[in-house]
Amino acid sequence: MNMVQEAVVAQGISKLYNSVVALDSVSFTVRSGEVYVFIGPNGAGKSTLFNIIAGIMKPSSGSIKVLGGNPFDPSTRLKTSYLPATPPLYPWLTVMENVDFYASLYGFNKKTIRQEAKGLLEKLGVQELATKLSSKLSTGQMKLASIVLALAVEAELLILDEPTTALDPGMRRSVLDLLREKVLNRATILMATHLVDEAEGLANRVAIIDRGKLIADGGVEELKKLYAPPAVLVIKPSLEQVEKSSTVLKLRWENVYSYDGEVRVHTDDPDEDLPKAILILAEKGIRVLSISVVKPTLEDVFLKLTGRRLKE
Ligand SMILES: Nc1ncnc2c1ncn2[C@@H]1O[C@H](COP(=O)(O)OP(=O)(O)OP(=O)(O)O)[C@@H](O)[C@H]1O
Ligand SMILES: [Mg+2]
Repeated sequence: MNMVQEAVVAQGISKLYNSVVALDSVSFTVRSGEVYVFIGPNGAGKSTLFNIIAGIMKPSSGSIKVLGGNPFDPSTRLKTSYLPATPPLYPWLTVMENVDFYASLYGFNKKTIRQEAKGLLEKLGVQELATKLSSKLSTGQMKLASIVLALAVEAELLILDEPTTALDPGMRRSVLDLLREKVLNRATILMATHLVDEAEGLANRVAIIDRGKLIADGGVEELKKLYAPPAVLVIKPSLEQVEKSSTVLKLRWENVYSYDGEVRVHTDDPDEDLPKAILILAEKGIRVLSISVVKPTLEDVFLKLTGRRLKE
């Protein structure tokens, strides 16, 4: 296989939908053989970017190279596989008929792809989906079928837009295992997700995208070193006192964030700050249900960079 060093090189990619700036001068490089994961909230521009990389849509400006070529070239498309966020299944065809249809559409060998798809369905423990009409599948089953569709093709570059959304935790793990297998077989994976633990478990490098801008990219640990504190205090007050706790703690610490009934305090010195936080809250008559010191996640990186949380 004639492999290029860089699987994707994007320079200054912008995309406007009328007056909406979906992407604002996005530049990044995905090296061959790595898993490069985009994380960003709803509307950040991930799917727009993936459509451009997959050669479905043209950018308004900027340049993009995929596997050394133009994403619109049929020869490039033959080496890539794209899983869009919405399952691209024809409802009046069964799952296996969809597989056949894609094989003939792109000129792939039908028999090979069929065999591959069958193997994938078996690995996922959902062989029975093969003969089911796509319109009769549940949301999660549709996702699984479209994953099988995307992975059945032998591709150098997999472009996966939220591959595990709608899957139950067990299925999510199985799909991530399949992706790891692909990496071992030297495929490059470009993926978008909202789940920071998924990104942390799989990515060689992570790009953080928000409001059309790529605001940081690098290795997971590298990003944490740059943008996250050594530790985070996670404080759970009673639900009605979350806001008050956050207000009180903000008087003492700079980076305090509250959501999901918790307050996260970024700290450089957890040994000193933990008892201090307990004391400060007690003085204000706030009842703390639990308090713990945890390692920062990519969510903390995102909080630090944007002041907002990843999942709204
Ligand atoms: N076809 C379209 N026409 C007009 N605006 C669009 C279109 N597609 C996307 N947008 C807008 O572009 C911005 C980026 O959308 P995009 O779908 O790329 O985000 P995303 O990061 O994939 O979000 P999500 O996490 O919800 O999937 C949003 O403001 C969205 O409303
Ligand atoms: Mg999207």
